[in-house]
Amino acid sequence: MDLVLLDDYDALSREAAARILETIAVKPDATLLLATGETPMGAYRELAEALARNPRDLSRLRPVQLDEYLDLEADDDRSLWGWMERAVVRPLGVPTGNVIRLAADGEDPEVAIASYEAALRAAGGIDLAVLGLGPNGHLGFNEPPAPADAPTRTVTLTPESVASNARYWGGAERVPRRAVTAGLDIILAARRTLLLVSGEPKRHILQRAVAGPVTPDVPASWLQRIEGVTLLADRAAWGPSAAVGRG
Ligand code: PGA
Repeated sequence: MDLVLLDDYDALSREAAARILETIAVKPDATLLLATGETPMGAYRELAEALARNPRDLSRLRPVQLDEYLDLEADDDRSLWGWMERAVVRPLGVPTGNVIRLAADGEDPEVAIASYEAALRAAGGIDLAVLGLGPNGHLGFNEPPAPADAPTRTVTLTPESVASNARYWGGAERVPRRAVTAGLDIILAARRTLLLVSGEPKRHILQRAVAGPVTPDVPASWLQRIEGVTLLADRAAWGPSAAVGRG
């Protein structure tokens, strides 16, 4: 795992955007697995601004949804698809139909999972995964414990994930309890991965993820075992003295 240490969140966001742009430049039909959550929002803003300055043809880009809540009405603004559309798909001007979505509104989750996996196979897998790190070490909604071959599936959120998502939705009671997540099998097979981690509250889990034992109890720790992973961390998240695991 490569570590790129940035001064602050803005620098992290610019670096992430530059790396996403590199991938798009090399492969205009790249499949990009794009997390929602607070951390990558700055990168998506930077990316949209860079593309407004230097337009590129994004008509063949394939954004891929990472996770989605279940049990929402079609127009519920809590849907992660809605968030992804507002934060990245629309600002970049990528055709909505290009997105490989997970569990579209009202669809049977098992049918949705099968068509998601088929679409990903047809697209040749993930070229670049842009991920945040959950406070419990999750990637997507692969809640601990999660083995490296955990498939795309419906999950029940842990109390920790409900609590950490409460800030987005005006209270824990408004956070949906069930979700569908891309499996670790798909996430860990990405050709390249950017793990974005910002802020002091993530420091402890970040060290467990990148320098602690590789364990299902910290799903992000599986990233230590694969090639092509770059950790972009700001100083607040990294802290003064810790060491990064390699390999
Ligand atoms: P955050 O979420 O980027 O909002 O901190 C990360 C996550 O829970 O996966």
